[in-house]
Amino acid sequence: MRTQFIAGNWKMNKTVSEAYDLAIALVSGLRAVRETEVALCPPFVSLTVVKSAIANTPIKLGAQNMHDQDKGAFTGEISPLMLAGLADYVILGHSERRQHFGESDAFINRKVHAALKHGLRPILCIGETLEQNERGETEAVLRRQVHEDLAGVAPADATRIVIAYEPIWAIGTGRAATANDAQARCAYVRQQLRGLFGSAADAMRIQYGGSVTAANAKEILSKPDVDGALVGGASLKAEEFIAIVQAAKANS
Ligand code: PGA
Repeated sequence: MRTQFIAGNWKMNKTVSEAYDLAIALVSGLRAVRETEVALCPPFVSLTVVKSAIANTPIKLGAQNMHDQDKGAFTGEISPLMLAGLADYVILGHSERRQHFGESDAFINRKVHAALKHGLRPILCIGETLEQNERGETEAVLRRQVHEDLAGVAPADATRIVIAYEPIWAIGTGRAATANDAQARCAYVRQQLRGLFGSAADAMRIQYGGSVTAANAKEILSKPDVDGALVGGASLKAEEFIAIVQAAKANS
C-alpha cells in the first residue's frame, strides 16, 4: 500500500507573511488528517517561516528547485547543502524550470543525485507538451524523461523519489487530464520505473499534476496508479487545498 501524497506547489506566490498565514490556516484545517502525507512547497524565502508554522505537525516542507552544486559562484542559486535539514522534499524538473530557464534532463539528473546525497527527497516532474500529446508522442517523452532524469539512481534510493506526472497542457489551464488518462500515464510511468528499479517501483509514489481542484481530485485520486497530486493554483487557497487532501483521504 502506498500512502497518498498531496503537495502544494505555491510557485512564485505569497509574501513571507502571507505564506506564514496560509501555513497556519492549513495546520488548523488539516489537524485531523493522518492517512495522507501532505507537503507545502513555498518560495525559498518563506521556507523557514512555513517550517515554524508546521512544527509539531506531520506536514512536510518542500523547496521548489535547487542547484546541483554544494556551493560556489552561482549568483542567485540555492544549494542542496542549504536545504538539507530545512526541507524534506525538493521539486525538480518542473516544466516551468524546463521551459523558462532552459533546464536540461542532464542538469535535472545531476540535481536528483545531489538531492539524494543530501537526504532530500526529489519530487521529479515529467510530462509532455500539447504538441507532443497531439502527435502521439506522450509515452516516448515520458520514457525518455524517466530514463534520463533518473540515470544512475540505485534501486535502494528509488523509494525516496516521488514522480509527478504533469502534462504541460494541463498546468494552470483549468483543463486537467481525465482520471482515466491520468491513470494510463501513471501506469506507463510505473512500468518504466519497474524496468529501472524492479519491484521497488511498486512502492514509489506517482502523483498527477495539472489543474487539480477540489472538484476533480476525488476521481483522479481514486485511480490505482495515481498516488497523490502536485497542486499549483488550488494550493494557494486553504479551503480548496484542504478539500483536495480530504478527497485523497476519502479514497484511502
Ligand atoms: P496547477 O499547477 O495545479 O496550477 O495546474 C500544477 C503544477 O504546476 O505543479
